[in-house]
This record gives sequence, structure tokens and C-alpha cells, in this order.
Amino acid sequence: MNQTKPHNTVLQLTCPSIAHVRIGLVGLGNRGMATLKRYMVQQGADITALCDLRQSNIDVAQEYMLQCGKQKALEYTGDDGWQNMCNSMDLDLIYICTDWLTHTPMAVYAMQHGKHVALEVPAAMTVDECWQLVNVAEETRRHCIMLENCCYDIFALATLNMERQGLFGDLTHCEGAYIHDLRERYNAADNEGGYHKGWMQKYCGQHAGNPYPTHGLVPICQLLNIHRGDRLNYLVSLSTIHEDGTTPNDHLNNTLLRTVKGKTILLQYDVTTPRPYSRMQTVCGVKGFAQKYPRRCFMFDGEEPIKGDNTEEILERYKHRITATFGEEGLQLNVPNIMNYMMDRRLIYCLQNGLPLDMDVYDAAEWSCITQLSEQSAKNGSVPVSIPDFTRGHWQDIDGFDFA
Ligand SMILES: NC(=O)c1ccc[n+]([C@@H]2O[C@H](COP(=O)([O-])OP(=O)(O)OC[C@H]3O[C@@H](n4cnc5c(N)ncnc54)[C@H](O)[C@@H]3O)[C@@H](O)[C@H]2O)c1
Repeated sequence: MNQTKPHNTVLQLTCPSIAHVRIGLVGLGNRGMATLKRYMVQQGADITALCDLRQSNIDVAQEYMLQCGKQKALEYTGDDGWQNMCNSMDLDLIYICTDWLTHTPMAVYAMQHGKHVALEVPAAMTVDECWQLVNVAEETRRHCIMLENCCYDIFALATLNMERQGLFGDLTHCEGAYIHDLRERYNAADNEGGYHKGWMQKYCGQHAGNPYPTHGLVPICQLLNIHRGDRLNYLVSLSTIHEDGTTPNDHLNNTLLRTVKGKTILLQYDVTTPRPYSRMQTVCGVKGFAQKYPRRCFMFDGEEPIKGDNTEEILERYKHRITATFGEEGLQLNVPNIMNYMMDRRLIYCLQNGLPLDMDVYDAAEWSCITQLSEQSAKNGSVPVSIPDFTRGHWQDIDGFDFA
């Protein structure tokens, strides 16, 4: 894909407000069904079209919607069902919950057919796909948001708030991870909660890098103002792959990244060994420290560490305004997962109010390209690999990350 043709930046893109957002949901597997359930309580939006290769999944989704008092959605199935859905004139947003390799082609087609796009993580699997998303978002001036729920984690939001108030001083280093023992799901049959046709094992058996970098990386990139004053510069990466470069599908990966302004990031991926769940969420600055996993901890210069339940008071004191508003609303509604609720609520709120979305297409590209670049490094003796500037020189135009 041509990376140098003239473009019109979509930094802080605003589009006409949408009073009531009509969503076409594609992919009704584990995450898609969970998404559908979340949207049953979401104000300002309705799922009006459903698409999956499996009619049985559509039937389950329709039944659930009816039980919730919603109208039956339009149905699309078959190999070209998703394209037919994108061609519809009656949708505002295509919401993609399919397997990793289908995300970019679907998103590109949807934008080219006038739709905004929300993509499950990661948005793309190669650098070329990342450029496709950027180029098409710029050409069509449609929103393309990667749905990274972990930046709405209450601890992450509070940490961001504390950083903005100077509690950590200049940041030096951050750590993030996706450590989640998925072996049971990984090995489960398709119809018993496993991934459709084992797509995840298949991908991981053929690729040596970090295929799932975004849960760990995203809160860090927001803290470090990536493409809003700083930029990811290069990475080095190691994987537990065979000496001949072939890849067991249960490999783990460690990647180190450096920003142009000299901050370092450690990112880890492991979904197939018996370890407690962790996204690390470690933040180091010259005046203070924060960590969510394995146990919440804060430490400030010259003071004793504050750990576990004793961190509650700090989290309350530095509660982010999004937690204080939409988070509280989610609590009132008794939703099972506050961070997912806040993500959905923010997306619809921004679309309804014609605001820039919390995450833009450059974020999606910067975060997703780590998959291919970490593989390149890991397979070649951990050589340094440059990270593209998807903003094409505009990474200092915005002064710091903030929610609109
Ligand atoms: N953000 C999170 O916390 C989170 C959690 C779980 C999964 N995910 C992401 O969600 C996505 C889906 O994961 P999953 O666990 O639901 O997988 P899954 O295998 O359970 O579901 C994928 C669904 O997509 C459908 N599908 C595939 N190709 C299609 C096509 N061409 N047209 C229509 N439907 C098609 C399949 O039939 C299946 O129902 C992945 O990107 C995953 O990384 C994110």
C-alpha cells in the first residue's frame, strides 16, 4: 500500500453528530455475543443488523434481543454477508468482532461504504494492514476506532489522572502485559466455547511475535502521549521459539520498546502457562511509582509503599472524571464489567455529540503494528526494528493525550 501519497490528516477527526447510532454487528462468537449483551443497556444506540457465518449464532442473538424487548435485527450470513451488511444505507457503525485476520479487510470495506468502524483488538496484523486503515480513514474521513477496553480500567484512568497532576514526575519506564491462562478455551472445540475453527492457535503456531500487544500497551501509550508529543521509535523482541525459527503455538514473547523522547516500555505476552492473570500496569517516574498487578501498589519519593486495600483512598482521591460519571452510571445499572461499559458509553457519547473518538486510527495502527514488528525482531536475533510514524510527521501537532 502506498505510504506517501497525499493525505489529509484525521487527527482529532470530528464528524456530524448522530442522534441515535444504528450498529451492524459482525461476528457473534464469544466476544460478539458479550458485546450484544452489553448494548442491550446502552442508551443512544441500537444493534439493528447482525452478521455471522453461522446462522445458529444469529438465531441465539435474535432470541436474546427479543427477550430484552428489542426489535429483531436484519440478518446477514454467508461468505459475503458482511459486505452486504456494509452496503446497507441504514447503518452508521460497523462493529467488528471476528477473528484477527478478517478485521482490516472488513474495516476498509466498511469505511469505503460510508460507515464508521469499531474494531475488536488488534485492529490489524501487519504493518501493511495498518497503513491500509490509516490511508482509507484519511481518504473517507470515517472514524476507525480500535476497541481497547483496558484504557477504561479504573486503575489506569486514575493513574493517568495522577500523572497529569505531576505525582510521578517525569515518566521513565512503563510495563504492560497480556498474561492470561487461556489454555482451556484455546483447546476447546468450536461449539464448546473455543475459537471458531481454532483461529487463534492457528495464527500463533505460524507467527513468532506478540500477537496481542494492545491490552498492555494502550494505557501506557496514553500516559506517554504517543503521537501527541512523543512517538514509538523502535523495539527489540524475544520469543520462546525453536532454534530453527519455527514457532510452537504456545510461545511467550517479551518486547522492549523505546520512544523518541527516551522512555522505555516492557511488554509481555503469555496465554498458555499456569500464571495468575496480569496486565502489569506498571508506571515508573522520577517522583513516584504505580502498579496494578500482582497487587496494587503506589510509592512516592521519600515515602513507604502503599499496597493492596490501602490504595483505595488514593484511587478515590484521583478518580478520573470518566469513572466519576460513566463509571458511576454503570454501577447504578449493575453492569458486570465497568470498563467495557465506559468504553461503549464513551463511543456512543462521542458519536452522538460529534466529538473526536477517544482512540483514533493512528492509535489503532501504532498499537497493532507491534505484532508483525515484534515477530521480525524475534526471528532475527532480537535486532532493533523501527516503528513507522503513521501520522507522517504530525506526531507533535497535539499537546498531550486527553479525552474530549
Ligand atoms: N477486548 C477484549 O477484552 C476481548 C476479549 C475477547 C476477545 N476479543 C477479540 O474479539 C475478537 C473475536 O474473538 P472471539 O473470542 O469472539 O472469537 P470467536 O471465534 O468466538 O468468534 C468469532 C466469530 O466471528 C465469526 N466470523 C468469522 N469470520 C466471519 C465472516 N467472514 N463473516 C461473518 N462472521 C464471521 C465466527 O463465525 C465466530 O462466530 C478477536 O479479535 C479477539 O481478540 C477481545
